[in-house]
Amino acid sequence: MNEEAVSELILNAFEARTKSYCPYSGYAVGAALLTESEKIYRGCNVENSSYGATICAERCAALKAVSEGDKVFKAIAIVGAPKDASEVKDYAYPCGVCRQFLSEFGGSEMTVIVAKSIDDRKIYSLGELLPEAFSSESMK
Ligand code: THU
Repeated sequence: MNEEAVSELILNAFEARTKSYCPYSGYAVGAALLTESEKIYRGCNVENSSYGATICAERCAALKAVSEGDKVFKAIAIVGAPKDASEVKDYAYPCGVCRQFLSEFGGSEMTVIVAKSIDDRKIYSLGELLPEAFSSESMK
């Protein structure tokens, strides 16, 4: 991915974070997912009074893409911080469930970007964050 594409994805993740519904944890997460069709899908965490029903930002974006027919993921940018924070102090890494969910459509080559700002970001492959992933291949 070139620098411009990385920056655009991070900007979209920041924008997505503004829509977070997180009255229980107070931790707002935004994600922006780039698909093979070159579309960007935004997602935020959507919490629920029955805590376990909460949807993470990454899976929110993934569900939007797949439900629109975009099933090949290229990259995702993630931004997370307490909802009223004036700046993002830490990188927000995807939880285990989200790593597994992304792997279904992005494989180990998919790019995962965690960001504190446009310039302060880290870039991984999903394979680095989820080595030896379980997949449809595992069942053959
Ligand atoms: N959260 C995400 O949106 N993505 C992750 O990968 C980890 C956690 C959300 C879920 C919940 O709304 C809040 O962060 C605190 O766990």
